[in-house]
Amino acid sequence: MKYFLDSAKMEEIKEAYATFGIDGVTTNPRHIQASGKPFLDAIGDIADWIREEGLGGYERFPVSVEINPHIDDANAMIEEARKIGSICKNFVIKIPATEAGVTAARRLEKEGIRTNVTLIFSPSQAILPAKNGSLFVSPFIGWKEQNGEDCKQYIQDIVTIYKNYGFYGKTQIICAAVRTPKQFTDCAVAGADIVTAGLVVYKDSMHHAYTRQGIETFEDAWDHTVGNEDA
Ligand code: E4P
Repeated sequence: MKYFLDSAKMEEIKEAYATFGIDGVTTNPRHIQASGKPFLDAIGDIADWIREEGLGGYERFPVSVEINPHIDDANAMIEEARKIGSICKNFVIKIPATEAGVTAARRLEKEGIRTNVTLIFSPSQAILPAKNGSLFVSPFIGWKEQNGEDCKQYIQDIVTIYKNYGFYGKTQIICAAVRTPKQFTDCAVAGADIVTAGLVVYKDSMHHAYTRQGIETFEDAWDHTVGNEDA
């Protein structure tokens, strides 16, 4: 399973890449807002960093960038996607899972502009983007679970549908808005291709009270081992 960072903050992207070797980045209008920069500056800085790191190409390090959410017409979505896509070869264009969005994504994929159909909340919304060749779909996990729903079956259903019809691996499933380490596990068990989460979730996933307790136990043993007392 690949790990993407869900953020448009450069310091977080650099840290997540250096520390955890993340495989890509996803952004959305909320993340751009949180970066404190205008849209084009925020995505331009990510593009510059990609060049500096030599990570060129969406195959190597995809960065999802969402179109203006006010656009609800397929032609206007395509126009906007072309502009964003021309900025950097790593950009995969995020388009909402609506009728206009699927129409736009289908045409963009035919032009070679890769798409991530986002804001997916039911398995049926994940089928048409796959039939039409989108690179990614983003079923949201955290938003649903925050709402009291358990997402294990939902992810499993999308994986099963993709396996049944040969989409699995071609249209990659990004489990999005992942908020907890347990959700990482659920996504991995179900066979999701990718998870995307904030930096704090990656950090949390490496914390366990028993690991800390184990280190302290071993420190104590080390300190009381013959020959180590004065070291
Ligand atoms: C993923 O592609 C989305 O940007 C994302 O997971 C939504 O997350 P948010 O709730 O952190 O904005």
